[in-house]
Amino acid sequence: MIIELRDVVREYRIGGQTVRALDEVNLRFDGGQFASVVGPSGAGKSTLLHLLGALDSPDYGSVIFNGEDIGRLDDEQQSAFRRHRVGFVFQFFNLLPTLSAWENVAVPKLLDGVRLAKAQPAAVRLLERVGLANRAQHRPAELSGGEMQRVAIARALMMDPPLILADEPTGNLDSTTGAAILSLLAEVAHEDGRARQVVMVTHNSHAATATDRVITLRDGRVGSDELSAVPG
Ligand SMILES: Nc1ncnc2c1ncn2[C@@H]1O[C@H](COP(=O)(O)OP(=O)(O)OP(=O)(O)O)[C@@H](O)[C@H]1O
Ligand SMILES: [Mg+2]
Repeated sequence: MIIELRDVVREYRIGGQTVRALDEVNLRFDGGQFASVVGPSGAGKSTLLHLLGALDSPDYGSVIFNGEDIGRLDDEQQSAFRRHRVGFVFQFFNLLPTLSAWENVAVPKLLDGVRLAKAQPAAVRLLERVGLANRAQHRPAELSGGEMQRVAIARALMMDPPLILADEPTGNLDSTTGAAILSLLAEVAHEDGRARQVVMVTHNSHAATATDRVITLRDGRVGSDELSAVPG
């Protein structure tokens, strides 16, 4: 997979004031990589992630996924893109509290019109993949933070998307549990050649050292973009 930002500008107009959240950003991701995006609060990290995930569109420039400009899709096409091509992982897991672990993992299939029972075997396999074979019937409240994040990662993998986007996935975890989640995200990025790219936003510079590539944003611009010494 290849996803590219070309001269991307994203501005927010509030009252009479314009904030340039992204200022002519150029970046390319070729897959098979676990990349992190770091930088101070307000630097544009979440804005960048939203554009990569077609949750938002640029004001100028383009976001090209495998040759297609996803910033120019209409709302319905963007939502189909997100459903099939992107897995999202969040700081607070965003699991549905009344559903069991495997049902949570199956949710993307339900949204795609597949019946729950039909999605079950794949959901259970993904729970095995993330080390939670024995937690399939647990509800989120019956899981630890690290386990909830594993469920969320399994859910993100349910549609086998080429792009996994994570916003502070370790922000709510202790450092040991966080390190295990980072290893899992690295595995997910590396397991299928260049088929999958993982992009993680983090405030935590230590978490960023676990990734193959560290992109630093400053005032909406790419301040630095460095491969780690020992790429994955
Ligand atoms: N919906 C919005 N409306 C107006 N301004 C916004 C909006 N979203 C973000 N901004 C502004 O755009 C800039 C970049 O915001 P963004 O959320 O991308 O930063 P961030 O790097 O993710 O910060 P943090 O580390 O605090 O999450 C900030 O100045 C912010 O105030
Ligand atoms: Mg943010």
